Amino acid sequence: MTQRITTVQEMKDIVRALKKEQKQIGFVPTMGALHDGHLTMVKTSLKKNDITVVSVFVNPLQFGPNEDFDAYPRDIESDQEKLDALGTDYVFYPSVEEMYPKPLALSVKVNRMAEVLEGAKRPGHFDGVVTVVNKLFNIIRPDFAYFGKKDAQQLAIIERMVAEFNHSIEIIGVDTIREADGLAKSSRNVYLTVQERQEAVHLYQSLIKAQKRYDAGERNSAVLINVINEHLTKNTSGSVEDIAIYSYPELVEQPQITGQIFISLAVKFSKARLIDNIIIKGDNHD
Ligand code: PAF
Repeated sequence: MTQRITTVQEMKDIVRALKKEQKQIGFVPTMGALHDGHLTMVKTSLKKNDITVVSVFVNPLQFGPNEDFDAYPRDIESDQEKLDALGTDYVFYPSVEEMYPKPLALSVKVNRMAEVLEGAKRPGHFDGVVTVVNKLFNIIRPDFAYFGKKDAQQLAIIERMVAEFNHSIEIIGVDTIREADGLAKSSRNVYLTVQERQEAVHLYQSLIKAQKRYDAGERNSAVLINVINEHLTKNTSGSVEDIAIYSYPELVEQPQITGQIFISLAVKFSKARLIDNIIIKGDNHD
């Protein structure tokens, strides 16, 4: 049975005792509504570590004023059942008041890496992510922490934060888990209408199409972006908000592709804005 911990003090006391026993701690931060993508990260952590802690916290700091903080799916009982079934040790489930008892006098500000892609569309989002992840890292003090590659920009920023703030934590990027038809698993998929759900398979299909053109030798980003745009416009009713090719993990725009890159896209459906990406190792990578 996964032990549910709701206060920072109790979580810190448990971690202190675990550290005394020299237990290796794996940590999977989440906002709940757990799906197979999260559960894959939990399983990866369970295999590698003595103890696995999962946090479930919908972090208000990373939502903009017109975003879905209130509507974000929350179901701790169902999350807990899934974690129990895997044999997870602890779920850290604090309230907003517990995490932010007073208005913050300080926060962490992400510079250039947050000014592009999702960060450009969602001002302040990555400042909120990095602030809460810092707090969670300080409370849980994990040896390994697991983040999905689906949020590739988040993963790159967290890796950079760990390096720049000298956290003694190794970040593990976990591959995107997809539905049988290729749609990336996401807590926001529940917002899709039946028709949009059918159309949503084209997000990944458009990326695969671009990957094929890349494999056939195309290195001009504008051409690949056009391939994706045409595919999405033809096959979905959503509005294509962003298609971009950036170096990874540096996150610099690449008009002409040389090294490792990621191709990312965002499509806005009636109630859900979905993102997806693929990372391509590039010519200079092994
Ligand atoms: O990826 C998420 O679910 C969130 O951004 C995270 C890392 C749990 C921080 O709130």
